[in-house]
Parts: sequence; structure tokens; C-alpha cells
Amino acid sequence: MQSISGFSKMPKAKKLEWIAQAVSETPENFIADFKKFWHQDESTQKLFDEFSENTISNYYMPYGLAPNVMINDKRYAVPMVIEESSVVAAASKAAKFWQDKGGFKAKIIATKKIGQVHFLWKGDFNKLYCVFDELKERMLDDTASITKNMRERGGGILDIELVDKRDLEPDYYQLKATFDTCDSMGANFINSCLETFAKSLQNWLMEKDMFVGEEKDATIIMCILSNYTPECLVRAWVECPIEDLGMVEDLDAPTFAFKFSRAIEIAKNDVYRATTHNKGIFNGIDAVVLATGNDFRAVEACGHTYASRSGQYRSLSDCSLEGGKFKFWLDIPIAVGTVGGLTALHPLAKRSLEILGNPNAEELMQIIAVTGLAQNFGAVKSLVTTGIQKGHMKMHLLNILRNFEATEKEVAQAVEHFKTEVVSFTAVRELLEKLRADQIQYKK
Ligand code: MEV
Repeated sequence: MQSISGFSKMPKAKKLEWIAQAVSETPENFIADFKKFWHQDESTQKLFDEFSENTISNYYMPYGLAPNVMINDKRYAVPMVIEESSVVAAASKAAKFWQDKGGFKAKIIATKKIGQVHFLWKGDFNKLYCVFDELKERMLDDTASITKNMRERGGGILDIELVDKRDLEPDYYQLKATFDTCDSMGANFINSCLETFAKSLQNWLMEKDMFVGEEKDATIIMCILSNYTPECLVRAWVECPIEDLGMVEDLDAPTFAFKFSRAIEIAKNDVYRATTHNKGIFNGIDAVVLATGNDFRAVEACGHTYASRSGQYRSLSDCSLEGGKFKFWLDIPIAVGTVGGLTALHPLAKRSLEILGNPNAEELMQIIAVTGLAQNFGAVKSLVTTGIQKGHMKMHLLNILRNFEATEKEVAQAVEHFKTEVVSFTAVRELLEKLRADQIQYKK
């Protein structure tokens, strides 16, 4: 492909034309496919174009609802944006399963966010450490105008620490700050504070007579929030007497509970299983995070780091069968907001929050964690009973049929046929070939 300059300045249609000419043998069809997804309402399209850069179209994702999700005795219909079949169905099924067993419970354990100024400094650490409280005051003063609104809402900067990191790198220190960002995810707020801290540090060193020579100079490497927020933590759980689980598919309650708890134990100890297990949790989590206009990459990155906090990557969820009780829970850090960012801009993110009853950030954290737990319960329940393919393949079959542009009649015939046969891409193709050949034969 040829290099291009000035791409970002080109109008959208020209960008599309350029890529079509560069990669497609049928540029007109290529352009038409992308244009099909341009929003008919110009102002909505402009909004979407402005979320990102160099846009040539919109990429649609299915938006579904998982109804009947009882959390702390309140019923929700949870919006989920996800392209994978079976996920919304599994969450809905799990919600229904727990509905008459007390529903899901959730609680916030902590809501602290973290940011760091990474800097290099050649000087006497003890000297700096002894007067750090003075610098801290200075940093709080210098950020007062940035933090005013947040303080009025009950949040702001909670603490700033000076951390000696010379065991990792020569002359390396951090200003490690904790924040309460109330109902916003807070990335911009935190980063603005950090960049101001860096300037305060540099000015303060220059001004203070006790620092001399190279001590006057701190090299700021970078200022950035950390997406690892182990102290922005929520717990979601379900529990009931083992007997109340009833028959689960063809397993009696104690057998199901036993197999389920073993599956969790395996995911706690085997990295290969843990990764797939946690992927199932994020099927639920990401879908709600996306639907509410939050940053799913941040939530995922954080969750996976948290899963490794013992030094080995492990299951995020846990299960116990003590005292005749089945208890299944998930502790997970989730940094999300219900104000600011895309939550206010994306028309459907706003509607998602409306569907959830306009929760604050803490309530949303609980809803998201519960959806992850529901998803995980649904997946592991299938795995230890019928196997995952039974439910999965039913949905998958419809996707494959869509791929082959099956007619309604063919879909009905295929669904009937695969009630007793194993679904595979090849098996579906062969069946359709046969049905279509029979049809031609019949017409002759
Ligand atoms: C598929 O998207 C997710 C599962 O693999 C999760 C799991 O294995 O627990 C079904």
C-alpha cells in the first residue's frame, strides 16, 4: 500500500475512496458497504466522527438486555453490548436461576483511584522526605482550582506519597497520589492534577534554598493515572443452601455444587483454565461497560492484573460449600463513571444509564460485577452439566446459516436436523447443499 500524507485532513468520503481504491477490486461495492452504516442523521454522524479520528464509517454491535437481574433486592434489566452469541442468553438465564434464591448481592469495598508522577532526581532522599509535607501542601494548593468541583461533590485528592523506587531504577522516584473521583471515571481529572504536581515539584525544588546544585532539578518522565485500581473494588455474590439449587440439568444439587466448586478450584490454580474462566467473566463485564459508555480496556487491564496479584494469574471468582451453603463470589476492581466522558455524549450510553435507573458510579460498579458473576455462573454451570456446545451451538448454527444466506425454510429445516446432529460449519454447508440440490431436483 502506498504512503499517504494529509489523510487526517481529507473529508470522510475521500478517505473512504482512497482506501477503496487501495485495497478493493470492486471499489464501488466497498464504498457502498461502508456508507450503508453512515448514520442518516447528520448531527448524530458528526458526533460519532468526533469520538475518534480518521473515521470512515460506524461499526455496529448488537445491543441486548438481560432482564430479571435482582441485585440487593432491586430488579434491573441490564443493557449489554456484545457481538458474541449466547452471552446475553447466559446472563439472563443465570439471573432467572437466582431470582427466587435471594438474587445477587453486591457491595463496594473501596473506591480509590491512583495516579503517578514518575521522576528522576539526584539528591539526598532523606532531605526531600523530611520536608515532603511542605511540598504536599504546595501541590494541594496548586491544584485547588482543578479540584474545587470534585471537592464540592465530596471527592478530590485523598493523599500524595513520595515513593523511593531506586531499587528498580537509579534516581527513580514517584509521587503516588490517591483520588476519589465520585461519579466520574476521573481520568482527565487525575491526569490534570498529576501534571500540576509535576510543575509544583519542579518549581518548589528551584525555590527552596535547602536544595543545591543538581538537587534543584527533577526530570519528570511522565504523569499518568494507573489503570490498576485494586482499591476501587466491588464484591458480588450469590448464596443459598446447597439443597435449594435443586436439580441442575441432570445433576442433583450436591453433585452440581461439588462439580461447580471443583471447576472454580481448577480455575484458581491452572493458568490456562483461569484465562478462559476470566474471559467468561469479562464477557459480562465488558458488555455492560461498553453499553454504559465506559472504558472496557481499562476495566479489562485492571481485572487481569488483579487476577495476578498473588504472583500467579488466577480465577477472579471463588466458591465455597461450607456449612451446607453454596456461596459463589467475585471480587473485582472496576473503575467506571456515570457522569462525564462518553456516558454523557453517546446517546445510547445515556439510555443505558436510564434503563439502569440512572445509577451513581458505585451502583454501576455493583451492576457490572454482578453481570460478570452471572455470566461466569452461566458458563461454569453449562460446562459442568450439559457442556458448553449444546447452548452455544444452537446460536452458532443460526450465525452459520446467516453466513450461507439460508432462507427461513432452510433455517427451520436445519434447526430440526441439528437437534440430533453435531453442528459444524462443514455439516451445515453440506446440509444446505443437499437441501438446495433437492429443491432443484424437485423443480425439474
Ligand atoms: C466463551 O466466550 C466463554 C467461556 O469459554 C467461558 C468459560 O469457559 O468459563 C464459555
